[in-house]
Amino acid sequence: IAETTLQATLPFPMGAAVNVSLLKSNSNYRNLVVKEFNSITAENAMKFASVHPSKDVYNFADADYLVDFAKANGKRVHGHTLNWYKSLPDWVTNFQGTTADWENLLKTHIQAVVSYFKGKVVSWDVVNEAIDEDGTMRNSIWLQKLGADYIGRAFQYAHEADPDALLFYNDYGHEFGPTKRIAILNLVTSLKNKGIPIDGIGLQMHTRVTQSDANLASAINLAAATGLKIHISELDIALNPDNNQALTYTSALGEQQAVKYKFIVKTYNAIPKSQQFGITTWNVTDADSWIPSNYNRPDWPLPFDAQYQRKAAYQGILDGV
Ligand code: XIL
Repeated sequence: IAETTLQATLPFPMGAAVNVSLLKSNSNYRNLVVKEFNSITAENAMKFASVHPSKDVYNFADADYLVDFAKANGKRVHGHTLNWYKSLPDWVTNFQGTTADWENLLKTHIQAVVSYFKGKVVSWDVVNEAIDEDGTMRNSIWLQKLGADYIGRAFQYAHEADPDALLFYNDYGHEFGPTKRIAILNLVTSLKNKGIPIDGIGLQMHTRVTQSDANLASAINLAAATGLKIHISELDIALNPDNNQALTYTSALGEQQAVKYKFIVKTYNAIPKSQQFGITTWNVTDADSWIPSNYNRPDWPLPFDAQYQRKAAYQGILDGV
């Protein structure tokens, strides 16, 4: 009897954000990705600073490694991300130019990257995190240089470069409450109504064990009500959102986390099949999660522990379907 895995059990693609250095150097990590997941997102390897470090220099080495790994192992590759206010190389943050020069920079980057991966990357987070917590447009370098319509044009540029790629608007905080969620849904709806080629919404869902089921359900169900494809694109469930430096993992915390993972999977599994692009966890195990280093605290947000073993959260995911 074949062993149960996430990819074999879940009725939609199950992905993870993958770190290319670990993929190269750590066979436990690599084997776990091969075994459990059928979709992968590059944690950092396709971001602007990684692939386009100087004006006329592209470096696809790590991204190619990830794409080759995916092809050899039958995994779907989701591209992340063509436009973001972070992970910009100095040449972009220091760039001096007219509005037309900035437009050209935006277009050239998007089209170079999407064309390069045409036929290998099936979908892209075209624009990431363009809305702020208060529902206004984030005051990013892109907004400052190009105005709010850069978002729609970014989708058009990506679509021109690969008409077959599925294009997503990706952001966090749909589950925080109505303010940011409504702003995001208004944005994507208006793009859709204008005929901009947008196929889906990425709900990052960097969430916490104390988040209410009502907020999580609203995030998923109201996004699905747009009719667009829904990708839970960066799922992790923090156990230590209050930054308690002395906290340790307990089975009680693990059980609460399992219940929350189950709720998210169950809610997602109930949206129409045709809209289920998949669920992707942000990273693979508690050892490689971005949360402890990014927030400088102990935490255990993922379904595998630091020894690559399945946690209660793993069973919670399986129990959601
Ligand atoms: C994070 C990576 O995990 C880190 O390694 C990197 O230092 C910063 O970016 N939202 C996103 C992801 O869209 O790209 C971020 O990834 C996490 C938050």
